[in-house]
Amino acid sequence: MILINLDKKCIKYNLTIMIQMGSRWQRDKKREHYYKKAKESDYYSRASYKLLQLNNKYKVIKEGNSVVDLGASPGGWSQVALEKVGEDGIVIGVDLNKIRPINEENFSFIRGDFTTEEIQEEIINTLNEEADVVISDASPSLSGIKNIDHLRSMDLLENVLEISELILRDKGNILIKFFQGEGFNQILRELKNKFRVVKTTKPNSSRKKSSEMYLICLGYKSM
Ligand SMILES: C[S@@+](CC[C@H](N)C(=O)[O-])C[C@H]1O[C@@H](n2cnc3c(N)ncnc32)[C@H](O)[C@@H]1O
Repeated sequence: MILINLDKKCIKYNLTIMIQMGSRWQRDKKREHYYKKAKESDYYSRASYKLLQLNNKYKVIKEGNSVVDLGASPGGWSQVALEKVGEDGIVIGVDLNKIRPINEENFSFIRGDFTTEEIQEEIINTLNEEADVVISDASPSLSGIKNIDHLRSMDLLENVLEISELILRDKGNILIKFFQGEGFNQILRELKNKFRVVKTTKPNSSRKKSSEMYLICLGYKSM
């Protein structure tokens, strides 16, 4: 009897391990899938698929738009934005790091910290008009200490929102990656007064275990 119970426990344990291995395998396979897709295509990063999926669903970027891409390196989101805006639109990428070559006439790159006044002025001058869309996949440099990293990511999100208010036209849209945590609900409440539609979401191509989320705000009410 004891032996039978031990056997049952053993089978249950082995099954649990197999299920865990199976879901890890599936997760790795999915990650590999988007990585391979990005390698096979001309996209510079697998992050391109996140923007493609989100834009297909929410139509944040449209043909002819002027788009500012904050935290653009190596350039995957800017590539997708250029496809969406077509020849009549423009895309401006901004990053602390170099970007990989994008040889489109309607693309400009500004290297620097977008939280500084100097770089914000450069964005405004390059735009020459208000932006239709602000997208940001910017990530803060992570320390590995949860509380510090949370504060850094909230700070970055607030900065991106401040810049958006500075450059976005009336009825414009924003799409921003953020990391969920304390203080976000307050930001969300404020955004609901400033935009017609406010949503948080996670595309399929984003890893489930990652705490990254995407904030989509449509129809800016500038007044
Ligand atoms: C995940 S990567 C962006 C990937 C990009 N969307 C793509 O598809 O290729 C995040 C980028 O944000 C940039 N970044 C973070 N904070 C920044 C800041 N204050 N100013 C400019 N770039 C910043 C980093 O340098 C990094 O290259």
